[in-house]
Amino acid sequence: MNKRIALIPGDGIGIEVTAEAVKLLQKLKASRSLPLEWRTFDWGAEKYLREGISLPEGAIEMLRREFDAILIGAVGDPRISSLKYAVDILLGIRSGLDLYVNQRPVKLLSRKLCPLKSRTEQDINFVIFRENTEGLYAGMGGNFKRDTPEEIAVQEDVNTRKGVERILVYAFEYARSGGLTRVCMSDKSNAMPQGHGLWQRTFADVCKRYPDIEPRHLYVDTLAMEMVKNPAQFQVIATCNLFGDILSDLAAQLQGGLGLAPSANIHPGAVSMFEPVHGSAPDLAGKDLANPLAAMLAAGMMLDHLGFPQVAAEIESAVSRAIDEDKTTPDLGGTMGTREVGDWICGTLE
Ligand code: NAI
Ligand code: MG
Repeated sequence: MNKRIALIPGDGIGIEVTAEAVKLLQKLKASRSLPLEWRTFDWGAEKYLREGISLPEGAIEMLRREFDAILIGAVGDPRISSLKYAVDILLGIRSGLDLYVNQRPVKLLSRKLCPLKSRTEQDINFVIFRENTEGLYAGMGGNFKRDTPEEIAVQEDVNTRKGVERILVYAFEYARSGGLTRVCMSDKSNAMPQGHGLWQRTFADVCKRYPDIEPRHLYVDTLAMEMVKNPAQFQVIATCNLFGDILSDLAAQLQGGLGLAPSANIHPGAVSMFEPVHGSAPDLAGKDLANPLAAMLAAGMMLDHLGFPQVAAEIESAVSRAIDEDKTTPDLGGTMGTREVGDWICGTLE
């Protein structure tokens, strides 16, 4: 049975980098006989401007029923000031499919890309698990006396026992199954004792089920500091939606920037979504300048998830070679275009 992939190129450079990821899938399908098939969906700014449709009706059910994985580029377009259509698509899929795990591998593939002094590939290799469905991004809140000098804005931080427990369990299971020994949970329970007190109590409970894993807790401000000071101390980090979002971008810089950062949105055992961390970068769109490596690494994470870990490892080493040999776009100091880098990666996978 073929693994069925839904492709959502989206907007801006999302379209360009997804094209390179598809080139890669085509290449691997032919040369490694991977049982893959895909279908492309035109959800994004053009469709929204043309038809007023962001995420079509029934899309979530269709994705759940007909696909094994989703590969998305990025959504966002400067012609549309309201972010609602992009939120409908991205958060619509994340919450509609209950993709509660946001997995962000942070791996330095070449020391020459690290902004920290004297850090090597051995020092930066950890994973951030971000809770992906609740917290401050749950969309609960409101504005009182809007657009007046007396305006009050309330944004609620939603933490459920079930939501916190399942992301922590996922992080511990990931550590155990990968032979890792440490999990660090990060919150701000000193300043947010209600919501993040729940994280503390849940963490204490979950830790007891994993006596083989060394638990650690850091407040998020301390974690940010430690991540820069000594990233080698981390193996697995688990945190809430907001902190995970911010820490992921900080971590992306440790590994060479947004052009190299892939991510996965997972619901264990169900259709999951893979994407580069970066957005649609309107400043680069249509110029053949976008780095396609994050999207290609995201395709690698997807193939790993679909049961082809060996192929994912091959993609990662091809990306390492591209960096070492300066076969890169300008963001990594190279002189190649998006398509040229994509071709080079596919060529090394002969
Ligand atoms: P962005 O990630 O698109 O760009 C930030 C900076 O990084 C820009 O200077 C850009 O040129 C650079 N950059 C990003 N990806 C790159 C790549 N592959 N190669 C080389 N350089 C790269 O974030 P920004 O500018 O805040 O947002 C632009 C649009 O993307 C907005 O509409 C935003 O809402 C949307 N967005 C969408 C996301 C998604 O679909 N997951 C995530 C983040 C932003
Ligand atoms: Mg972000």
